[in-house]
Amino acid sequence: MSLFLGIETSCDETAVALLEQESGFMASLVSSQTDLHQAYGGIVPELASRRHLEILIPLLEEIFRKSQRKREEVRAVAVTRGPGLVGALLVGMETARALSLSLGIPLFGVNHLAGHVYAAFIEKEISLPALALIVSGGHTELVLLNEAEEFKCLGSTRDDAAGETLDKIARFLGLSYPGGPEIERLASKGDPSYRAFPVGESENPLDFSFSGLKTSVIYHVQNRQQAGHQVPLADLCASFQKAVVDALVLKTRRALRLSGVKNLIACGGVAANSTLRKEMGLLSEQEGVRLWIPPHDLCTDNALMITRAGIASAQQGKFLSLSADIDPNLTLES
Ligand code: KG4
Ligand code: ZN
Repeated sequence: MSLFLGIETSCDETAVALLEQESGFMASLVSSQTDLHQAYGGIVPELASRRHLEILIPLLEEIFRKSQRKREEVRAVAVTRGPGLVGALLVGMETARALSLSLGIPLFGVNHLAGHVYAAFIEKEISLPALALIVSGGHTELVLLNEAEEFKCLGSTRDDAAGETLDKIARFLGLSYPGGPEIERLASKGDPSYRAFPVGESENPLDFSFSGLKTSVIYHVQNRQQAGHQVPLADLCASFQKAVVDALVLKTRRALRLSGVKNLIACGGVAANSTLRKEMGLLSEQEGVRLWIPPHDLCTDNALMITRAGIASAQQGKFLSLSADIDPNLTLES
């Protein structure tokens, strides 16, 4: 049996997990910093690092205590190397390195975005090649994962990420952080046909662009307010959310047709959105492909996904040298 430990500290969640593939044993703890950053409407990097430092060791102690497993049983440690905030990544990396050295076990460095994709592999094995739509707060990418488990990027956002757009519009509307769940909550009571907001296009038909949509929503609200009209918040959120989801589905449909791939994964925090999940379900039926979306709590940041990606690295013999460092700009193809 090989018990893997995973650590995730790339942004504003401190997370640890234990995963033993053969027995199916898993444990996961996520400590969110939402309370800390809410007042600022976004993440403050220095505060994030300090909170990771305070929380990570107690969280590790807690997961061993709660799952009744011992540190000495761990056979390998996986940690997020990037992309992410420098100070935040360092806390996870140095802790993982210390564990690897003191326990004499191998260390695996995980790309956070690969982690999001491998979240879909935790409960099921997925046939490869697969196309993955990764939609998080910092990234929006369409990637191919081939049989050798190598990534190839087909498209990405030219400006804001989908989650970032949701968060920024939520902030503009005076909603709390993170904005995605707030927009979803209001959108569920609104009419998506209230207004047709634009879907951004760029030179590569598989690239995304959300800045035009963001501007369009802001202008619409300002124009209505200046004309002395109320803005129907639920309808606005429903129409805005529809525009984000439509853009994601349109580019994913194109990528499926261009690549001919028959397995589709949707992952990352925004994939927790029920409208996106429903529309991706329809897309997979229309295009005749199989769809995998991780359960809600594995879409948003967690360490089980990092642990599962670490297991994939171990299977490929991709060890991380003990002198290796974090890489805040790490890409999936590097
Ligand atoms: O993957 P994630 O937890 O962290 C990053 O790697 O960025 O994604 C966070 C993003 C945030 O922008 C948040 O607003 C969005 O995911 N999000 C959602 C939902 N839950 C989280 N967006 C739409 N609907 C949701 N239910
Ligand atoms: Zn993430």
